[in-house]
Amino acid sequence: MIFESKRLIARRFGPRDVEPFVAMRADPEVARYQSWETFTLDDGRAFIAALANANPGEPGWYQIALEDKASGQFAGDCGLKIMEHDQRLAQIGYTIMRRLWNRGYATEAIAALADYAFGTLNIHRITASVDPRNVSSCRALEKAGFQREALFRQSEWFKGSWADDAVYARLRNPV
Ligand SMILES: CC(C)(COP(=O)(O)OP(=O)(O)OC[C@H]1O[C@@H](n2cnc3c(N)ncnc32)[C@H](O)[C@@H]1OP(=O)(O)O)[C@@H](O)C(=O)NCCC(=O)NCCS
Repeated sequence: MIFESKRLIARRFGPRDVEPFVAMRADPEVARYQSWETFTLDDGRAFIAALANANPGEPGWYQIALEDKASGQFAGDCGLKIMEHDQRLAQIGYTIMRRLWNRGYATEAIAALADYAFGTLNIHRITASVDPRNVSSCRALEKAGFQREALFRQSEWFKGSWADDAVYARLRNPV
C-alpha cells in the first residue's frame, strides 16, 4: 500500500488491474478531457508493465491504482509527477471509474494524495492542470483544498479546437 483514505486504498498497479483500467480509459466520457482518444488492451498492458520499474517519489510521472475498500474492486487511479528541475514541486492527475462519479471519490483521492506528497515525499507545492469545462474535476480540486491560480485562454489545441487551461495549486504551508 502507498497510502489510504477512508474508502480507498492507493497501491501499486498490478496485472489484475489491466482489464478494469483499460475499460475505464476506453470510456469516451472518461477520455473527454484527457490526452488519449482510444485506449487498447495493449496500451493498458504496456502502461502497467512500465510502472513495475518505477517508484513514487522519483522524478517524472508515477501512476497509482485506487481500490475501493468495501468491494476490493479497482476504482480508478491517481498520478504524481515530480519535477526534474526541483523535486519539491509536483503535478497531479486522477481518474475515477464512471460508475463511481459524484460520490466524492476524486475529492478523497486528491486530498489523500496531497497528504502523502506533503508528508512522506516532502513536496512543497502541488499543481493540477484542468480544462475548465471539466466542472467536476475543478470542483473536486477545490473541495480538496486547491486554489485556481491561473486561466490560460485557448492555450492548447485539444481534440480539434482551442481549449483553456486552468491551473490549480495547493501549498504544503499555506500563506
Ligand atoms: C473528474 C473526476 C475525477 C471527478 O471524480 P468524482 O469522484 O466524480 O469527483 P467528486 O465526486 O469528488 O467531486 C465532483 C463534484 O463535482 C460536482 N459536479 C459534477 N458535475 C457537475 C456539474 N455539471 N456542475 C456542477 N457540479 C458538478 C459534483 O456534484 C461534486 O461536487 P459536490 O460533492 O459538491 O456535490 C471524474 O469525473 C473523472 O474521472 N473524469 C474523467 C477523467 C478526468 O477528467 N480527470 C481529471 C483530469 S484534470
